[in-house]
Amino acid sequence: MSKKKLILAVLFIAIALFCYKRWDAWFGNPPEPGYDIQHHPARVLLTVGPSESSRYVSWQCDSVRQPGWVDLCDTLGHDTLVYETMGQPFRSRAGVAAYFSVLLDSLKADTGYRYRIRVGQDTTDWMQFHMPPASNNFSFLYFGDVQDEVDDTAFDSLLPNIMAQNEDASFLLFGGDLIERPMDKYWEKVFSSLSSYAYTYPIVSVPGNHEYLKGVTRTLEERFPLVFPYYDMEAHDGNALFSFKRGDARFFLLDSNKDFWRLWSQRMWLEKELSACKERWKIVVLHHPIRSIKGSMNNWVVKQFFDDLVCKKGVDLVLQGHEHGYARFNVDSDSSKGMKEPLRLVSYCSRKDYMLQFHGDVAKWGTDDRYFQRISISGDTLSLSTFNSSLQLYDKLRIVKSQDHRQLVDEGKDIPEKIRVSDWFRANKKAKRVQEFEKNIEEWRRKNR
Ligand SMILES: [Fe+2]
Repeated sequence: MSKKKLILAVLFIAIALFCYKRWDAWFGNPPEPGYDIQHHPARVLLTVGPSESSRYVSWQCDSVRQPGWVDLCDTLGHDTLVYETMGQPFRSRAGVAAYFSVLLDSLKADTGYRYRIRVGQDTTDWMQFHMPPASNNFSFLYFGDVQDEVDDTAFDSLLPNIMAQNEDASFLLFGGDLIERPMDKYWEKVFSSLSSYAYTYPIVSVPGNHEYLKGVTRTLEERFPLVFPYYDMEAHDGNALFSFKRGDARFFLLDSNKDFWRLWSQRMWLEKELSACKERWKIVVLHHPIRSIKGSMNNWVVKQFFDDLVCKKGVDLVLQGHEHGYARFNVDSDSSKGMKEPLRLVSYCSRKDYMLQFHGDVAKWGTDDRYFQRISISGDTLSLSTFNSSLQLYDKLRIVKSQDHRQLVDEGKDIPEKIRVSDWFRANKKAKRVQEFEKNIEEWRRKNR
């Protein structure tokens, strides 16, 4: 055998061994443990509908195809309407459960509603929600990845504290990786964490990679669109895409987990939606940061498909997650036209921290905490405040619009950054990785002194 052939053979064996070792990490799914299904209507979720005056309700009950109903009336008990639907059994890897959804439409602005769910002889207690007033001024909450383990209770206790201070939130928006894995026990965990907020406030989420089943081709596990029925996967060639209007803002939900050959149709959809958008504020939400905070080649494909489009089409804000660090990017602007690109934000609300390379043109970083945002739109101004898990203000800014001019006002730069290796990272990563992260932080400090 020639020397060249020998090198090629060794290289081939080395690559094969590497693929064999990494196969499960790339393509494998841990088995889903068996689970008991809900025999009564449970896991009720309220979410947005296709119009501002509509709401979807989804729930789970039993495992067979059978009818279910929602009784709806206003809080004074007037005008009870009955909506009928049919349960859709879904077989996961470890069991079968039936999912239901109903679209409540023609709801009146600034009106309180009561509703209950019936399946067979079972009826839930009455639940309530309030439709927001017909105003362009509103606030919502954004959470990056949560993906808690079953035994993690931090978000369970944090959420009521957050909601006590944000009762006026129009909805709660999640940036994907809401669950740790597509398994019943993690869905149970999410509903337990959301508690009564799941059926009181509209809950909205884009899919993250943890909602996917891995494989040579990744697949969004069907439980996700069954829980969030605003996704019409068939209408979008299997992509989880949705846009909805609230006041003078429109939200565009993307599915950045798809293999690259599926992202082209998402780009075309986004371009069409942005071109047709009549609302003043445009907010794009996707799981993978268009500009990574971990490395210049991370999410390279996502960047190629969406980065120019969000600039060209005047998107104001891009909300992202996945990389388990907090980063608010700098915004390119000039005095005549103001912001030439959207404000890009990466956030997370998880106990997991990933190592940061401090890559990217970032105005403010954050580590070792759970973060969330309160975002308010009031006429010409979008205000964004980031809080940590102690509900302390961590970052703050405003985008102010006047005709074609957008100006970013940074009110958060003087709030100290929290940059350190978390206890979770030390406990879960190898010593070499911890040292590398510490070194990255040292270098970042040196440069920013
Ligand atoms: Fe992720």
